[in-house]
Amino acid sequence: MGRFDGKVAIVTGAAQGIGEAYARALAQEGANVVVADVNAERGERVAKQITADGGTAAYRQVDVSVVASTTAMAESTVDQFGGIDLLVNNAAIYGGMKLNLLLAVDWDYYKRFMAVNFDGALLCTRAVARHMRKRGGGAIVNQSSTAAWTYSSFYGLAKAGVNSLTQQLATELGGSGIRINAIAPGPTDTEATRTVTPPEIVRQMVERLPIKRMGTPADLVGLCLFLLSAEAGWITGQIFNVDGGQVMR
Ligand code: NAI
Repeated sequence: MGRFDGKVAIVTGAAQGIGEAYARALAQEGANVVVADVNAERGERVAKQITADGGTAAYRQVDVSVVASTTAMAESTVDQFGGIDLLVNNAAIYGGMKLNLLLAVDWDYYKRFMAVNFDGALLCTRAVARHMRKRGGGAIVNQSSTAAWTYSSFYGLAKAGVNSLTQQLATELGGSGIRINAIAPGPTDTEATRTVTPPEIVRQMVERLPIKRMGTPADLVGLCLFLLSAEAGWITGQIFNVDGGQVMR
């Protein structure tokens, strides 16, 4: 028996990295998982691997910044699996992102970035909420970052927005039995991090951490599953750091 037997979960940005780890773990504990990502080739591959490992998964192409795309994701999930219980808003422009100042970043890039990294979580939540209500409730995890509390320009700004969104939506969703929380990982070793953060900067970050190593996707999975599970039934509107002690609030 898995904790999520019979549940239907959508994980956005699940074609690789941390989202892939969340999707695999949910499937291992019995959920029917929708691997939702803009990257079709990698997303298909993850869904196929989960199925080959004995889980139930399907790939859906989605751009989390586009209303019609998010509603299509929700509706096709309901058509295939009969409803939606769980959502992980993990998708973001992160791997390969441009680094620049808030004062200098190209305005069109900034708007696109915020549409994906900030609005995306709200759009996906709007798309699934009525389907969760039909099931009598649900649970949502937003992927934040410790970047929300440290200088990281528009990337940190979007994650600070995700934190506030988590708090605001907790009130709007609570009456429908839908809980929403956020995980704020510290520096986590993924392919994307290797493209964004030079090794010397990573070394300096790790040196300052109380626990002197980078995180891994596996470090984050336990909390994500707990927050989505019935054991977390009285927890909502919270932001949890999983960061080797990087930020102490
Ligand atoms: P990643 O870049 O490998 O994963 C992001 C995924 O989102 C990719 O599969 C990408 O195709 C997808 N995506 C991008 N734009 C999309 C869109 N418009 N619609 C749908 N999917 C889209 O990054 P990683 O390292 O796995 O991070 C995952 C999440 O964790 C992100 O939200 C990131 O900001 C956050 N995070 C990562 C940390 C790290 O050190 N790796 C630390 C803290 C937070």
